[in-house]
Amino acid sequence: MLKLQDVQAFYGKSHVLHGVSLEVDGGQVVGLLGRNGVGKSTTLKAIMGLVAVQSGSITFAGKDLHRQKAYRIPRLGLGYVPEDRRIFPRLTVLDNLRTGFDRQGASAARTEQLLEQAYASFPRLKERQRQLAGTLSGGEQQMLAIARAMMLDPQIILLDEPTEGLMPRLVGQIREIIDVLRQANVSILLVEQNVPMTLAVSDRVYLMERGAIRHESAASELSVDDDVIHKYLGV
Ligand SMILES: Nc1ncnc2c1ncn2[C@@H]1O[C@H](COP(=O)(O)OP(=O)(O)OP(=O)(O)O)[C@@H](O)[C@H]1O
Ligand SMILES: [Mg+2]
Repeated sequence: MLKLQDVQAFYGKSHVLHGVSLEVDGGQVVGLLGRNGVGKSTTLKAIMGLVAVQSGSITFAGKDLHRQKAYRIPRLGLGYVPEDRRIFPRLTVLDNLRTGFDRQGASAARTEQLLEQAYASFPRLKERQRQLAGTLSGGEQQMLAIARAMMLDPQIILLDEPTEGLMPRLVGQIREIIDVLRQANVSILLVEQNVPMTLAVSDRVYLMERGAIRHESAASELSVDDDVIHKYLGV
């Protein structure tokens, strides 16, 4: 469904992605692991058209994303939850969810339907729909950011370190959210530093180092104390 082939990307003159190739099939959860600064977030930004891709190809459901304007990409069915979440702290939960939708400019009935769908998946957000988003807990804010991405009814969601900065107790909540998405048949490309969590929820994982994929395998073939995990992720 989503396929990157030999993607080379730059920030100005600095060459950050040195030929990234990866694939996410329909309904799959795919983990992308790597140390700080290896290019995980840049890979997601390249998919969303937010960094300059110099060569290689990025296709989604047969369409060439590389040639699309960035603002069109979410409408093609790709949801993106960046590292900093970008929720609006001074808007209510409900208004934050609406901002996820208004961009598409569809009918009020459709908005209502997607809101109900989001609340069915995340009942906690419904309970707090009138609360200002800035007063939610970290885990709830992450939940809101993901629910907002769901408002465009995506086929895939790119999640950038959803467990970052969360207490271990809340990591379980993120796992539950990923299960909710999986049940809704939404594919996930999950960027993480949390190895045990990623191995537990993913079908396949890629290990990244210095701007390229160095290893790929079924998540079930890897364990936290594997040599390859030590090599690319150990401290
Ligand atoms: N806007 C930018 N301008 C210039 N260089 C950047 C920019 N954003 C990131 N970089 C550089 O690109 C490289 C890859 O960054 P990226 O954010 O993709 O790493 P990451 O794997 O997501 O790391 P982390 O785990 O810390 O989030 C780093 O060397 C970083 O300093
Ligand atoms: Mg990052």
